[in-house]
This record gives sequence, C-alpha cells and structure tokens, in this order.
Amino acid sequence: MIIAIDGPAAAGKGTLARRLADHLGYAYLDTGSLYRAVAVMVLHRNGAPDNVEAATEAARTLDLDLLGSPDLRTGEAGAAASKVAAIPSVRAALTGFQRQFATHPPGNAGGAILDGRDIGTVICPDADRKLFVTASVEARAERRFKELQERGEAAIYARVLQDMRERDARDAGRSDAPMKQADNAILIDTSSMTPDEAFTAALDVIEDAG
Ligand code: DC
Repeated sequence: MIIAIDGPAAAGKGTLARRLADHLGYAYLDTGSLYRAVAVMVLHRNGAPDNVEAATEAARTLDLDLLGSPDLRTGEAGAAASKVAAIPSVRAALTGFQRQFATHPPGNAGGAILDGRDIGTVICPDADRKLFVTASVEARAERRFKELQERGEAAIYARVLQDMRERDARDAGRSDAPMKQADNAILIDTSSMTPDEAFTAALDVIEDAG
C-alpha cells in the first residue's frame, strides 16, 4: 500500500502523514527533508543553493544521517530547499531513494506514506491513495509564524506571509515536477480544520477508497 500526500508548505501534511503512518503501522518518508538536507549540505560548504554543480553533487552524495537534524527545520533551510528542488539533476538524484522507500518500506512495514510536492504526480504515479492537503496562504503563514515564535525565532507575520507566497510560486512554477494536485488525488483543505479533523478526513478518504 502506497499513500501519496502532496501539498504546499505548512498545510499540515507532515503532522497528518506521521499520524496516519503511526495509526496504520506504515513507514513514513518526509521527502521535503531530502531537499532540505541537500540545501543544508550546500550551505555548510558555503555554496549557493541555486548553483547546479554544488547542489547536484550534494544530492548525489546525500548524507542520510542529516535527515533528523534540527538544522533542516529553519526558515533558511526551507527557502534554500525550494531552490535546490528546482534543479532537475537534484530531483533525478533523489528519485531512486524515494521509489525504493515506497516499494520496499523499511522494517517490512505493510505500506509506505510519502509526503511532498510531486509524490502523486511523478514519484509514485501509481500510488494506491493520493491526497492533496492544502490551506489558504494566510492560514499557512499564521501557523508557520506561531511555530517560529514558539521556537523563539524572531518573526514578522507580513514577512512570513510574503516568504510563503514566494515559496508557493517557486514550487508550483518550476518546470520540472512542479507542485500540482494529481488528477486522481482527493483534496483536503485544512484552513479551518483542527489536526484531529484533518486526520479523520484523511482516514475516511483512505478507508473509503479501499
Ligand atoms: O515540505 P518542505 O517544506 O519540507 O519542503 C521543502 C522544499 O522542498 C519545498 O519548498 C519544495 C521542495 N520539495 C519538493 O520540491 N518536492 C518534494 N517532494 C518535497 C519537497
């Protein structure tokens, strides 16, 4: 069983995917963390995230130990991830790992849940279930703003909103594997849902579709 969950930044897909994976006993891969790790490798080497050679080299030699690092969660890493993610050779270098995870989930789990931008369209077009989880840009900026405040990072709401708009435009506007709802994906808009409501709605989709 392969479940693809795509959608824009801060729509709640990570929390939702992790919870579904726990509930169903499936393996979970946050594919955004792969692009974040590539971006952080480039930044650590004082490279520019839009430098094709530097980003491709980082993607080809990706250090999987970086995936759990808190360095990946900063606003800077997210913005840089969106830049490395626009480079086709970076995406190509990460495709095999994601497909292998989906078809052979670790720990012999009975299924895999992958979240990202292009899982239902490019990485796993034959996924058994596809969800597109979104929310208004204002709702997402509000959530990201609160998250930054809770982590003690200085943040200005108007700036967070602008960054979110720029990131959406870059992720949806790139030519290679742009963020897009797959034709057969079910839309869940979490703008006015609690995390519990989003979980119930997603589980309904997964179980009903079966
Ligand atoms: O989901 P996230 O915020 O951790 O993702 C960081 C960036 O990585 C995002 O702006 C776009 C990119 N990304 C992608 O292009 N394809 C994916 N499957 C996942 C993330």
